[in-house]
Amino acid sequence: MMKSYTATAHGPEAGRIDVEGYSIEFKAPKGGTIQALANTNLTIEAGSFVSLIGPSGCGKSTLLNAVGGFLQGTTGTIKLDGIEVDGINPEVGVVFQQYALFPWFSALGNVEFSLKRFNLGKQERRERAMAALKEVGLEGREHNFPGQLSGGMRQRVALARTFVSEPKVLLMDEPFGALDAQTRIVMHEILLQVWEAHRATVLFVTHDVDEALILSDRAHIMSSAPGRIIETIEITTERPRRAEAATEEFMNNRNHIIGLLRKPELETH
Ligand SMILES: Nc1ncnc2c1ncn2[C@@H]1O[C@H](COP(=O)(O)OP(=O)(O)O)[C@@H](O)[C@H]1O
Ligand SMILES: [Mg+2]
Repeated sequence: MMKSYTATAHGPEAGRIDVEGYSIEFKAPKGGTIQALANTNLTIEAGSFVSLIGPSGCGKSTLLNAVGGFLQGTTGTIKLDGIEVDGINPEVGVVFQQYALFPWFSALGNVEFSLKRFNLGKQERRERAMAALKEVGLEGREHNFPGQLSGGMRQRVALARTFVSEPKVLLMDEPFGALDAQTRIVMHEILLQVWEAHRATVLFVTHDVDEALILSDRAHIMSSAPGRIIETIEITTERPRRAEAATEEFMNNRNHIIGLLRKPELETH
């Protein structure tokens, strides 16, 4: 089988994101507007793993959805590898908290579906999908339907389905928020393995400080109302990292971030 896999078109330099002076307003339900993001600036290096942390309602999902091209801003620009985002881009993959799997397709069917847009033969598509499921530890479960899989397994299918098309960027909006602590630890390990193998840029939204510190190269802390980035934390501790065997850096970062999140909104402005 010498057929080239058209999905692996990007190199390790791909997936840089530049958010510049970006604002978004929504219509408020009772009239007027809600400023969800105000003059937000953010640079994300290609291939890095970056988290957004902030209180509920501060605009994390809004920013993520804007990067994904699902929303339009009122001012500013978002660029992916220097090109302005102006709609949904197939090179950007998304994993949400809700399992957006097709319930009528098996795990394998779900992963194969995301390869439909590539010019692959049926056999190669199957092989790629099987390999992706193996990568997330689901070998032997490929013929199960989502309803027959645990929450963690469904998110692993969602991850395989996204990574199999080799996106430049992976957007994850509280993807493990519905999982128990034990399952979440396993998911962190799998996600980091897959990320290291594929090197997409990951933008990961969470309100769990430890989760951000375990996973990311950088954590951007957001303030609420209107949302913007108030501080960026570089995380240098080698992976794998463990919250229960935290290093000094981990503890310091955790205390610092929790302190920032506790501050009354006015103090951060
Ligand atoms: N489609 C929408 N219409 C109106 N208001 C919205 C919409 N989406 C988000 N908002 C508002 O924008 C703010 C930021 O929301 P969101 O990005 O979902 O926050 P987070 O993900 O940090 O919890 C909130 O005040 C929210 O109510
Ligand atoms: Mg959200």
